[in-house]
Amino acid sequence: MMYSEKVMDHFMNPRNVGEIEDASGVGTVGNAKCGDIMKIFLKIEDGVVLDAKFKTFGCGAAVATSSMATELIKGKTIQEALEITNKAVMEALDGLPPVKVHCSCLAEEALHAALWDYAEKNGIVIEGLEKPVNDISEHENLPEEE
Ligand code: FES
Repeated sequence: MMYSEKVMDHFMNPRNVGEIEDASGVGTVGNAKCGDIMKIFLKIEDGVVLDAKFKTFGCGAAVATSSMATELIKGKTIQEALEITNKAVMEALDGLPPVKVHCSCLAEEALHAALWDYAEKNGIVIEGLEKPVNDISEHENLPEEE
């Protein structure tokens, strides 16, 4: 079996699919190589992530990793949220095949982009957070979404 049971579970029954209307931060990133796009919405209050949702035009691994990433980030402080790397998400899913690692990067980058958006909107600096890229493969700009 190429995918772990956890990956299959999160792919078949993804958690946190959708949008948050009054999101505190929204991040959108894409990967030009596979053409997939990931959008993550965060609701943050008093420095704690209360809710997270995602929408993706992505493959099964992208669905599973963002499902897991949004589960992991809920209830975390912003600093703890930064520790939810693609590696941490893959570990929580019992691994991904090597060709699918970039899909987990899409989830991580979209989380970072959403945190960045939150920081910008609130005029704060999040220690350790780097400006996210729009495109994880070639650093090209995606067309603006609205
Ligand atoms: Fe594009 Fe997985 S193949 S996100």
